[in-house]
Formats: sequence, C-alpha cells, structure tokens
Amino acid sequence: MALKIAVLPGDGTGPEVTREALKVIKAVAELEKFEYTTEEFDFGGDRYLATGHIIDDADIANLKNNYDAILLGAVGHPDVTPGILEKGLLLRLRFALDQYINLRPVKLYPGVETPLKDKGPEDINFDVIRENTEDLYCGAGGFLRKGTPQEVATQEMIATRFGVERCLRYAFDFCRNKKKTGDGKGLLTLVHKTNVLTFAADLWFRAFNEIGEADYPDIKRDYNHIDAACMWFVKNPEFYDTIVVPNMFGDIITDLGAMIQGGMGIAAGGNINPDEGGTSMYEPIGGSAPKYTDQNVINPMAAIGAAAMLLQNSGQQAAGDRIEAAIKKSTPQMKSMSAGRMGYSTTEAGDLVVSEL
Ligand code: IPM
Ligand code: MN
Repeated sequence: MALKIAVLPGDGTGPEVTREALKVIKAVAELEKFEYTTEEFDFGGDRYLATGHIIDDADIANLKNNYDAILLGAVGHPDVTPGILEKGLLLRLRFALDQYINLRPVKLYPGVETPLKDKGPEDINFDVIRENTEDLYCGAGGFLRKGTPQEVATQEMIATRFGVERCLRYAFDFCRNKKKTGDGKGLLTLVHKTNVLTFAADLWFRAFNEIGEADYPDIKRDYNHIDAACMWFVKNPEFYDTIVVPNMFGDIITDLGAMIQGGMGIAAGGNINPDEGGTSMYEPIGGSAPKYTDQNVINPMAAIGAAAMLLQNSGQQAAGDRIEAAIKKSTPQMKSMSAGRMGYSTTEAGDLVVSEL
C-alpha cells in the first residue's frame, strides 16, 4: 500500500524547504522502489489572514483518518499576532493527533561547525525525547483581577501518570533499541527539576525508577536537573545517549541542542504518535524565518532530515537511512549551515542531497 503523506508547507520559508524535502523523497522512492502519494494543505498564516480559518475538527479528522504521516514546513507569520498560529495550528495538531513524543536527535554531521570548542561528530550524538502533550503546554491557568494592581496569573504544570508513563516507556524502548543496534550505550537520562518542582518532578522521578526497575533492568538510569543539563550540553555532550524530558524543559534544551549540532538549518524533529494507526508529523525544528522568504537562501537540510525521519518511522527505514547517509555526504561540501552562507542555494542544496543518494 502506498504511503500517504500530507504536506503542510506553512509559512515563510516553510514552502521552500518543504519543496526540497519532497524532491529528495521523490528521488529516494525511485531508488528504493516504494510507492507514496502526497497531498498539500495550505494551513498557515496567509490562509488565516485571507479567510480567518486556521484548522478545524474536520481537517483534523481528515489528517487522522486518511494519512500515514505529515510533513510540516514552518508555522509563524509576521502579520499574525504571535501565539495564534502556534497554538491554533502547531500545538492543535500535536494535541489533537495525540503526538505525545517529540523526538529531537542532536547529531553533529560531518563538516558542520559547532560552537563547542574541540567537539566533533563523535561527541555530539544523542536523542532528546520530549513529552509533547502535557506540562505547561496544556494551557491550564488563568487570570484573577486582570488589569488591576492586584492581578494574579497562574500557568499550571500538568503531569499525569498516564502521560508520563507512555513517554517514559517510549524512551526506554528507544534507548534499548539504540543499544541493540550499537548506536547507544543503554543510558537514559531523565531531565527535570526535582529540587524545586516537588510535585510534577516527583511523579516523573518515581515513574522513571519504577518502570526502569521493573521492565528495563538492562538500561542504566541517570538523572540531571534541567539547569545542570544545560551546562553538560555545552561541557560534556558526549556523555548523553538518550534524554527524556517534560514538554517545556524539552522545548528549551532542544534549541540549545540545535545550536550545538550546527544550528536551526540542520535540526529536524518528529511529533510522533507511536500507537497503532497514529498519524505523526515531522518538521524542521526552526521557525518560518520570514526575512529569508523567497530568496532561495534558506538551508533545507533540517526539512530533508525531517523527511528522513518520516520515512524511518513510516515503514521505509532503508529509504530514510539512505537520505540520512546522503545528508552526511552533503554537509562536508557546504560552507555553512546558515542561510545565505551555505555556498549553495536552497534548491542546489536539495540537488546535492539527491546526487548523494
Ligand atoms: C517548537 C516550537 C513550538 C513549541 C512553538 C512554536 C509553540 O518552539 O516546536 O519547539 O514551543 O513547542
Ligand atoms: Mn521550540
């Protein structure tokens, strides 16, 4: 059966990088001989400004029932108030499709410059598994006496045993699988803030140890406070194998992760619903970079990496691996991962990966 991909190019430079990702999927499908279809959707800032429509229940049901995976370009439009599209489109999709895992590999590819002195591809190679449907992202909270000098605002950190446990199990399994394939040392690090967040972190910490002890005795458990993890990302990134982290802290440390792997131009991620029949969504983790729109200068590698992850997680492992290998051969030929300084245009960078397939 053909793989059905929904394509959401989105805003800003999203369409440009998505085009290159699709070019690479087309080429690898010919080489690896698999069938797929794509359908494009124009959800995003322009459509919202023109029609007021962001995405509704029928759109969600369509994506859920009729597609195996989603390839997303970027969300965020300079003329739309910040928050509207982020919440109304990106977070809405993650929540409605129950994409409870946000998998963000932090991998320094060959030839890519890292701001970390004396660190190379063998030092920066780990995976962050960010819980993607709970925590401060639930939108729980509110105002009291808004606009008065006595105003109160709350924003609640939600951790449910169910949500935490399914994320932890995915992380343990992921870490175990990496150990099996020789890609990891079987070390899972929980990142939280147990010394201050004594309720939410306590639930995570107990679940982590209970599940690990009962079902994953072969996986070594480790714990870092979030602030310490930021320090180690810079000082000793080679220590990490797999990290599991709640949503908000995961958001923050994966931007740091993206920087040490060479920047937003190369960092890809997957919003994954690992359950039977789940629809997952893959994206470059950077934003829509409006100032570079339509100049053919943005780096498409992150979007191409997202395409590789999509295939790897949608029954086309060999094709996904083949794209990843081609990225590894392409990056040493590029001058930089930054927009406008690659030594290649956006379309040429896509062609480069195709030629290395
Ligand atoms: C990300 C982004 C989003 C997040 C925003 C745009 C809502 O920063 O994908 O990391 O916070 O998750
Ligand atoms: Mn982010």
